[in-house]
Amino acid sequence: MGEDEVTTIRTLEDYRGAMSRLIEKHRGRVVDSPGKNKEIILQTDNLTKHFGGLRAVDSVNLIVEEGAIHSIIGPNGAGKTTLFNMLTGFLQPSEGKIKFRGKTITKFAPYMISKLGIARTFQINSIFPDLTVYENVRIAAQSITNYNFRLFQNYKTIPGVQNKANKALENVGLIERRGLLAKHLSYGEKRRLEIAIALATEPKLLLLDEPTSGMSPEESDRFIDLVDQISGKVIILLIEHNVDVVLSVSHKITVMNQGKILAEGIPEQIKEDIRVQEAYLGVVDAS
Ligand SMILES: Nc1ncnc2c1ncn2[C@@H]1O[C@H](COP(=O)(O)OP(=O)(O)OP(=O)(O)O)[C@@H](O)[C@H]1O
Ligand SMILES: [Mg+2]
Repeated sequence: MGEDEVTTIRTLEDYRGAMSRLIEKHRGRVVDSPGKNKEIILQTDNLTKHFGGLRAVDSVNLIVEEGAIHSIIGPNGAGKTTLFNMLTGFLQPSEGKIKFRGKTITKFAPYMISKLGIARTFQINSIFPDLTVYENVRIAAQSITNYNFRLFQNYKTIPGVQNKANKALENVGLIERRGLLAKHLSYGEKRRLEIAIALATEPKLLLLDEPTSGMSPEESDRFIDLVDQISGKVIILLIEHNVDVVLSVSHKITVMNQGKILAEGIPEQIKEDIRVQEAYLGVVDAS
């Protein structure tokens, strides 16, 4: 199978094949196991969300450490998005706690969490289509300053804003497109603009929920390269369905199933975990 082909996981063989190829490809980068002398950035303590009788997220103890990319995988309905919604203040937990850099943020509103340094991108387009690429990012950069509501002050006099906006655009490769109206960007470019908008708030942690969905394989490849590249500047928590993508960029993987953490570890450990194979495939290897 070619490097760029998207793997569809249907059988245990597909699964093992995809895991092996990717682990091989990235053998050099998994140098240490999680937990060794790394600062804990985010920690949840028995985090739970009920929807009526359904425990969409069920007593989750997640630890995100200093490091590049931590991915969350799991079948549809596993509770991944619900977990993100709680981490960003968009949903109130039914039970449990969330700590970000040592501070309890459990009941914080989304804007407070964003100011503290957790950013996310949305599936629903959060771009202003009739503003320029630059303006979209500039507004985000301004939102974290104390000048947020000074609408009539010339932003050029607000310290740092132009710099932050330009830096964010450079980081996603859109600096040349800065004068264009956002609606004239291609689909892949719009998704990159969303990342720039998130980066302009200078987050410590960036949450991405299935960022490659709807992209062509080429756009998806480019996008993952970008995610990989910005992971040097910001810690990334990534929800992604494509196992190829996850294994090609993650240093740690958490597998969720039915609201709970099923397994956690570096790619080698996840590959070997029979429970993960069962959750994904609903089958057990007969051999
Ligand atoms: N607002 C809601 N009200 C009721 N049930 C919900 C709500 N949001 C999510 N659920 C349910 O909670 C469970 C977890 O959903 P969630 O969207 O978190 O899963 P997911 O892992 O993100 O799935 P996918 O991979 O399909 O995006 C599902 O059974 C879903 O139907
Ligand atoms: Mg989801």
